[in-house]
Amino acid sequence: MPYKTDRIKWCLSISLGLSAFIFLNSFRFANTSNLLEMQRSQTDSIDVKVDSILKIMTLEEKVGQMNQYNGFWDVTGPSPKDGNAAKKYEDIKSGRVGSMLTVRGVDQVREVQKLVVEESRLGIPLLIGFDVIHGYKTLSPIPLAEAASWDIEAIKKSAAVAASEAAASGINWTFAPMVDISRDPRWGRVMEGAGEDPYLGSKIARARVEGFQGKNLNAINTIAATAKHFAAYGFAEAGKEYNKADIGTVTLHNMVLPPFKAANQAGVSTFMTGFNEFNGIPVTGSEYLLRDLLKNKWGFQGFVISDWASIEEMVTHGYARDKADAANKAVKAGVDMDMESSSFVDELIGLIQAGAVREELIDDAVRRILKVKFLLGLFDDPYKYCDVERELQTIGCEENRKAVLDMAKKSIVLLKNENNLLPLKKQGQKIAVIGPLADDSNSVLGSWRIASEDSSGVSILEGLKQYTGNKLIFKKGADLITNKPTFINELEFNTTDKSGFEEALLAAKAADVVIMVLGEHGFQSGEGRSRTQLDLPGVQQELMEEVFKVNKNCILVLNNGRPLAIEWAAEHIPSIVEAWHLGTETGNAVAQVLYGDYNPSGKLPMTFPRNVGQIPIYYNHKNTGRPVDPQPGENMVFWSHYSDIKNAPLFPFGYGLSYTSFNYSNLNIEKESYAVNEEVQISVELINTGDYDGKEVVQLYIRDLFAKIVRPVRELKGFQLVELKKGESKIIKFSLTSEELGFYDQDGNFTVEPGEFEIFVGTDSNASLKTRFLLKE
Ligand code: NOJ
Repeated sequence: MPYKTDRIKWCLSISLGLSAFIFLNSFRFANTSNLLEMQRSQTDSIDVKVDSILKIMTLEEKVGQMNQYNGFWDVTGPSPKDGNAAKKYEDIKSGRVGSMLTVRGVDQVREVQKLVVEESRLGIPLLIGFDVIHGYKTLSPIPLAEAASWDIEAIKKSAAVAASEAAASGINWTFAPMVDISRDPRWGRVMEGAGEDPYLGSKIARARVEGFQGKNLNAINTIAATAKHFAAYGFAEAGKEYNKADIGTVTLHNMVLPPFKAANQAGVSTFMTGFNEFNGIPVTGSEYLLRDLLKNKWGFQGFVISDWASIEEMVTHGYARDKADAANKAVKAGVDMDMESSSFVDELIGLIQAGAVREELIDDAVRRILKVKFLLGLFDDPYKYCDVERELQTIGCEENRKAVLDMAKKSIVLLKNENNLLPLKKQGQKIAVIGPLADDSNSVLGSWRIASEDSSGVSILEGLKQYTGNKLIFKKGADLITNKPTFINELEFNTTDKSGFEEALLAAKAADVVIMVLGEHGFQSGEGRSRTQLDLPGVQQELMEEVFKVNKNCILVLNNGRPLAIEWAAEHIPSIVEAWHLGTETGNAVAQVLYGDYNPSGKLPMTFPRNVGQIPIYYNHKNTGRPVDPQPGENMVFWSHYSDIKNAPLFPFGYGLSYTSFNYSNLNIEKESYAVNEEVQISVELINTGDYDGKEVVQLYIRDLFAKIVRPVRELKGFQLVELKKGESKIIKFSLTSEELGFYDQDGNFTVEPGEFEIFVGTDSNASLKTRFLLKE
């Protein structure tokens, strides 16, 4: 154990504290009779160890633990003003740093750990944080796409694969999952979340935390997770990045907070604040959110990290006078670690000495941070994630590629399939593949993939080429991005060059079937990528319309990180496949779906609007006092609507087709009325009536007809992914408890109110099979 011998200095310096805890524990175990108590003692024993270390730490060392610096290799935010490497090195060596972000690779991590372990007085190992958002090097689909699978086990597995690769590369902490609910596809970060619904979002939040952290944080292939961005960042006004969120408490408690709560219940190690303000207060300085709610009411045991420089940015917001004031407000609010703004490390000591901040706040923060380090096993071996052999064997291994391919297929949503154009015939066809994204092995990777190599994905064209029975011809038609697309630069996508149209149209004309691969580049969504238009950027719309004129057998394969407004395509193009940005194995996944070797079963986790003016558009809206939908021919304006567009989304939440068809019948509720604490039992019969085996996501929605606060017209409260052979039928059962039937009132109190409820079961959020019951006192 090289580390153990190396850290003698450290052991010696805390030996007094350690002997105290060994004594305490031997005494405790001698009196312990059952397993439960024993387990409790183990967690307690970490607390005792943490306290022993805390006792011997200087104030400067404590504050140092609360400081996180970016590494010197990749930048995921604006470059820090104070970013000189020499100062950072000095700070690391002198114990003024508790964590680094975006250091990666066994060699780099070992190098930086070595600096603290060998040079700093106490040698407290660093947390190494990284944005492992949808895979590390081997990439899964973007999170929004994964959410479209509604396959909770698969999502959990995907996070576990990501964790194993990151851990093999020296990383011990991911800044994921992002659990921000959003109703605004203009906001580029919807690609990182699970969509618009808090129920689905909560299940996915839990799955991702469990996937990353596993059952044992101490294991070699698991890493600590982060629920971010606490809170309401997804409600950025007008979908504009970093904008304020002004939402009421009912929306906060019922829509925004549930996935965070679920992540906390799943034992997430850390929370990250957001860049946004919420009702006038930047969330990084929100005592209400961080201290009162998260730490006190929810009992969160881990620690809170700011977002990149979001402490210092409170000055720019106009909420803090200067950096010291920002540090003061953040620490009081409950932020335990400062990402990259140096506000804590530069200001906290002065604030404590001036009596403005109590040292107990610092102790609490450091306790929380050290605890996570203990749980990860870093005190036993700070180099435990630094095994070169493991790094070589794990990253990009066959097993991981298989796993991301599986996830990619599960994430695809079939939006339209008129005349059964899909699946494609495997022989004797001339197929024209057209579009700027068809041959792109970079865009398919999506945004947030700092550790993966550029262009390491399988392009859709490459995937299609695996099927050799047809003749493929590829013509790009037009460019999409005219500068080099990267994670940090502003993309230029206003090309007007149509010189490639002619040869694309010739190819289309001569083909039996045309596959058009259009949409957004992988870097057109993600952080800092808000858009005011949700059309197909550049000249893609024109290209599509021209191609359609010469060949009606068109399949549109969409690549995008957010819902797009594609009304024309939805009306004209016979087959549309939503293929998002599916990660490393994109092309193989898409080809298998197009050729019918995989029957798609994805369902939209976010509503697709007809145009931008409909946004925010979401299924769980309120009824208003004027929801009337006049019959055709009636001419009456006084109802809640737009007068220039159909008052319905293009594709509703939960929507997605299959190559087979499913029939729902016999919706049955066991009783007409239930007591508040009884389980409501519902069943429905599902039959696969089509020609293929397939999977269907059976969805259950409720409506609480009357309550002390107005409830949405529908709320998802159950779903099951069911696999049926053709011709097979199955009775699907749901049960609802007060957890599903209750809601949060204006004060954030959970209440279950007696009264009438409607239940809808079906294939999407427009499900029409309906029953009702009464909930009695
Ligand atoms: C800023 C982003 O908002 C956050 O999600 C991310 O984890 C950090 N940068 C670190 O890259």
